[in-house]
Parts: sequence; structure tokens; C-alpha cells
Amino acid sequence: MGEDPGKTGGRICPETLGHMAQDLVNIVVYQWPIAADIMAGPIAIHLSLRLGLNDGRHDVSNCAGTGSGPDKFPGCRRMRMSITLAFDVYGTLIDTRGVVAALSEIVGDKAGKFAQTWRDKQLEYSFRRGLMRNYENFAVCTGNALDYTCMHYKVSLTKGQKKELLDGYRTLPLFADVKESLTRLRAADFQLYAFSNGRADAVETLLIRGGIRDLFRGIVSVDDLRTFKPDPGVYAYFLSRSGASGLTAWLVSSNPFDVIGAISAGMKAVWVRRSNEVVFDPWEIDPTLTVGSLDEIEARITEYRAKAHPIHTVNTKMPP
Ligand code: 2OP
Repeated sequence: MGEDPGKTGGRICPETLGHMAQDLVNIVVYQWPIAADIMAGPIAIHLSLRLGLNDGRHDVSNCAGTGSGPDKFPGCRRMRMSITLAFDVYGTLIDTRGVVAALSEIVGDKAGKFAQTWRDKQLEYSFRRGLMRNYENFAVCTGNALDYTCMHYKVSLTKGQKKELLDGYRTLPLFADVKESLTRLRAADFQLYAFSNGRADAVETLLIRGGIRDLFRGIVSVDDLRTFKPDPGVYAYFLSRSGASGLTAWLVSSNPFDVIGAISAGMKAVWVRRSNEVVFDPWEIDPTLTVGSLDEIEARITEYRAKAHPIHTVNTKMPP
């Protein structure tokens, strides 16, 4: 029988101990915020009601005697928690196919396929670097993916062309539905964040160029953790940075892997399906909501919350 590679003469070898320590660190750093977050909502509601407090984030309106179900009892109040939206950036707010025009000048009618391979490889490299724990930032994944794509399509770029394409990636355009929809969401008191694989400075540049930076409360980049989506740690990190709870935080993304990652880590998620050609991964996890454009988000989340309102409806008449 072969010797267990993790043990040497009945003792655990230093390498195995190292892995165990790393696993322990991962559990403490990444998993406890999820557990704490799941607990936080109900505990906060219970305490604020027992103590008669409202922390200002909750819109508490007296609905005694109206509606049905719990609302028909006097003394019931509906607590409307403010919703936090974590917008994925590349592919959701920013159109990565914005490079196609510049590519057409270089690769002609292969531009569409070239742009798709470039994007697919960029994501694949981020997944692989995350798994390997061999982090280099997202711009490095983008550059390496461009080199791969050139080799794949047997295209040889001059230094100037390569710079032009990479600069183009830093100045990609917004999708047409972004500005107006986000302005309405902000006005309706949704808390907006940009949440991206991209470094914060790269995302900031894109949002400023698009004229939408002021709509966001903040930018949360996975670069702070030196790993990529869909590592569960990055979604827990988003919750801790935004101060939101898994009960009230929604990811908004066109990327199915991101939607599945967020839901798997305890958030809700809207899948933005701008084209019927795009399919969702046939796993055991479905998007909480699917929309065809960002303008639908406000109505769909409001409707979802209205259906789920018993969670937010509590009887304030506590026994003495
Ligand atoms: C983003 O995080 C995944 O590209 C996507 O912005």
C-alpha cells in the first residue's frame, strides 16, 4: 500500500501543514463574513424593533389596517431596506465589443470573432490565475489574452497597433441603456456600486469617461484581494466593503459565471440578457431575476420584494 503523501512516518509533513493553515485562513477570512451577513439581517430587525430603533437605513412606514395578511393587523409596520446593487463592469456597463471597430482596421472581417476570442481568453486567464493563486491584475490577463488571440488568428501586430488596442480597452464605451437607467435607480434610492475584476483606477477611468461616476457610492475591485470572480471571497468582500447584507445586496451582471458566483456566495443576482442568443449555464443555480435591459431592474426588483414582503413585515407589538 502506498504511503499517504501528506504524512511522513506517522507525522504530518510541513507542506500539508501549510495547506491546512491556508485552508483555515480561507475559512476565517472568506466564510465568516457570509455567515455573519446571513445572521445580521434578522438580528438587526429584531433588535431595532425591540428597542424601538430605526437606524436610518430603513424606511419604516406605518401600514396599520391596510392590505391583507400581516398588514391587516394594527401595529404592523413594513420595513423597506434600501437595496444595494453591485454592477459588474466589463460586459454589463461597458461594451467589450467596443474594440471591434479598431480591430476591423487591422484584421478586417475577422474582427468580431477576434474580439470574442480575446474576451473569452481574458476571462479564462482570470479564472486560471485565481485557481492557481498566481495573481496578476486584470490588465495583464487582457494583454496576455490579446497575445494569445494574435497567435491563434496568425495576426502580427506592430507595437503601435498593440498599444492602440490596449488603450482602446481602457476607453471602452457604455452600453446604450446604462446612463438613463442608473440615473433612475439612483433617484429611486438604490445604492449603486461598481464591482469588477478590473483595478479600481481602470474602472474609475471608464466610469468618468462615460459620465456616470457620480452615480456610484463606490468602486469595489477584486484587485484588493488579489483573486478574481467567481471566488466566493470576492462577493463576501463586496458585502463587507459596501456594508450591505446578503438579503439586500444584488449583483447585476451579464456574465452567467458572475451571477452563479454571487448567488452561490449568498447574494441575489440579476442576469442582464441583452441578446436572446446568449444562454445561461445549465447548472443547479438560476438567476434570481433575468432582464433584457437595465431599465427593467427597478420595476422587477420592486415587484420581487413586494412578493417577498412577509420577510420585511414584522409585528411591532412585542409582549411586555
Ligand atoms: C468584470 O468583473 C467579469 O469582466 C467582468 O468587470
